[in-house]
Amino acid sequence: MMRVLAIESSCDESAVAVLDARRGLLAHELWSQIDLHRQYGGVVPELASRDHVRRLLPLVRQAMQKADTSAANLDGVAYTAGPGLVGALLSGAALARSLAYGWKLPVIGVHHLEGHLLAPFLEDPAPGFPHLALLVSGGHTMLIEARGIGSYRLLGETRDDAAGEAFDKSAKLLGLPYPGGPQLAALAAQGRPDQFDLPRPMLDRPGFDFSFSGLKTAVMLAARAAPLDDQRRADLARAVQDAIVDTLCGRTLRALEHTGLQTLVVAGGVGANLELRARMTAGAAQRGAHVYYPRLEFCTDNAAMIAVAGLQRLQAGEHDNSRTGVRARWPLSELQPPRAAQP
Ligand code: KG4
Ligand code: ZN
Repeated sequence: MMRVLAIESSCDESAVAVLDARRGLLAHELWSQIDLHRQYGGVVPELASRDHVRRLLPLVRQAMQKADTSAANLDGVAYTAGPGLVGALLSGAALARSLAYGWKLPVIGVHHLEGHLLAPFLEDPAPGFPHLALLVSGGHTMLIEARGIGSYRLLGETRDDAAGEAFDKSAKLLGLPYPGGPQLAALAAQGRPDQFDLPRPMLDRPGFDFSFSGLKTAVMLAARAAPLDDQRRADLARAVQDAIVDTLCGRTLRALEHTGLQTLVVAGGVGANLELRARMTAGAAQRGAHVYYPRLEFCTDNAAMIAVAGLQRLQAGEHDNSRTGVRARWPLSELQPPRAAQP
């Protein structure tokens, strides 16, 4: 039995969680830096790092208090080691490794995307393996065949913008504040369907890659073509969301058919989009497949998902006690199934 403390700091959320193998999630705390970055229209890396340094230790105290846990009850520490902003990653890594050293606990650096992929395992029922996973975040759009923990085969990915980026950039063109994804989704709920004809790139091509960069150009042209009153802005938001959701569902459902898998996981920030969830669930059901999602708050960045991935690896005896460093870039394909560390 194991209990881990986990720290996430790869981008603009500072988060800490305590997960117990038997009793489940005992605490999860999150500080979002959105207000800090909003005036710049995007994440400013240096400000992100400094804020993580300020926020993380108080969050650790808070999470341990809520989990009624002292260092003596912990069996390991996990932190996000990449991919992400290098300064932001380093602030979390330094704290996690210092705590583990002081408390004489094993420490493990977790792959952020593995965290996203394993977030649905915090729910009941949890998905089984093998499954197809659609990972849709601000930085990534990937279709993955997951055969087990650490065994991920990439079927397709975006050739340009990520789905979250497509949401955020389109939202910016519509004059919505950063990060625009959730705001665009809220506006789209007021929009009428089929008022704008936006492209669905790659949808008619073979394979499982995505492309979203043409969409933002089309949105820019549509927004420029005529002044948009409130209803037309909502209509355009609806058209953007429909185009992104169509593209994601089209590719993913085809991959389900291609692989013959019956289990689908949708993870990452864009997985919080309710229209995507409704369309994906219905489409999968028609093909006899079931979709598993993280709860809404664990679609976007959080430490609970880092705790799940860290716990799996620490339980297998894996640790990074003698390896330091974080990785801004870290291909998911480099991961291996959990294994005991070499002496
Ligand atoms: O996974 P995440 O928190 O961070 C990364 O690892 O990238 O994903 C953030 C992305 C942002 O692009 C955000 O706009 C998008 O997820 N997002 C949404 C929604 N909630 C978050 N996009 C569309 N609809 C939503 N409800
Ligand atoms: Zn993320």
